[in-house]
Amino acid sequence: MKSPVVYAFLGLLSAASAQLQQVQNFGPNSSGARMFVYAPSGLPANPAIVVGVHYCGGTAQGYYNGSPYKKLADQKKFVVIYPESPNSGGCWDVSSRATLKRDGGANSNSIANMVKYAIDKYKADASKVFVIGESSGGMMTNILAAAYPDLFAAAIVYSGVAAGCFFTDSVAGWNGSCSGGQVNSTPQRWAQWVYDAYPGYNDKRPRMQIYHGSADTTIAPANYNYEIQQWSTVFGYDPKKPQSEKTNTPDNGYTTQLFGNYLTGVYAQGVGHGVPAHGAEDMKFFGL
Ligand SMILES: *[C@@H]1O[C@H](CO)[C@@H](O)[C@H](O)[C@H]1NC(C)=O
Ligand SMILES: *[C@@H]1O[C@H](CO)[C@@H](O)[C@H](O)[C@H]1NC(C)=O
Repeated sequence: MKSPVVYAFLGLLSAASAQLQQVQNFGPNSSGARMFVYAPSGLPANPAIVVGVHYCGGTAQGYYNGSPYKKLADQKKFVVIYPESPNSGGCWDVSSRATLKRDGGANSNSIANMVKYAIDKYKADASKVFVIGESSGGMMTNILAAAYPDLFAAAIVYSGVAAGCFFTDSVAGWNGSCSGGQVNSTPQRWAQWVYDAYPGYNDKRPRMQIYHGSADTTIAPANYNYEIQQWSTVFGYDPKKPQSEKTNTPDNGYTTQLFGNYLTGVYAQGVGHGVPAHGAEDMKFFGL
């Protein structure tokens, strides 16, 4: 038995430090994805939300511990949603017909429902909802941007693939021609995956930032070009002609290419799979 004094002390501790919490009832969840939230103390009346989507084999707790967003949430006072994959192997379903469609009932749909729940619960500023993901989570980030353009103001993809590139017509499949960079598609075909995710949508879309490493042997570097072709076509930019290019930015060996206000690419020379998160840069891109 703990004494009342110990209980009071534990109560004080938990009041002082917010923690990662699982949310059970966030709305329809036919794909079984799990929702975890980190809400730091001292949130403003209408906080921003950042969705942090983990890599294959990841968990919400692992991404919370291993990525910079918890610490940044403490500093800048925003809510972080950490969705967790229900699929064996911990990869996201970025390959089924259902996940590539708005309201298709698959993983992307569950994550969108988490976002809607959190906007309501935290009275969040709906114009400041952002998504970021690494690897499988980066693939999901492109899909969320395509299928739920009305939910997100900006999205950052680390070492992912274009929306639709991993299509296998099965749940959480592995598309070897995509990972190997052997998909021959036109820029228009890449853009079509975005249009098909939410047919008829013709309004504002999230600003996109795409990171990829030139030495990625898991998700071939050609995927950088596929993503740039996809989004530059959607936004009406020329995928071959960035408006500006900065070498050694934000790091040595990284080249930042600005295709227009809605699309920035960052190609990391010599960096392998899983370009490390650039938390401070991410905050700048989101305007947080
Ligand atoms: C979603 O499904 C997962 C796995 O079955 C479960 O843990 C979670 O509670 C569900 N959430 C909702 C809102 O149904
Ligand atoms: C892999 O995805 C591409 C589109 O990126 C598609 O054309 C191809 O059929 C897919 N492969 C499999 C085995 O489904």
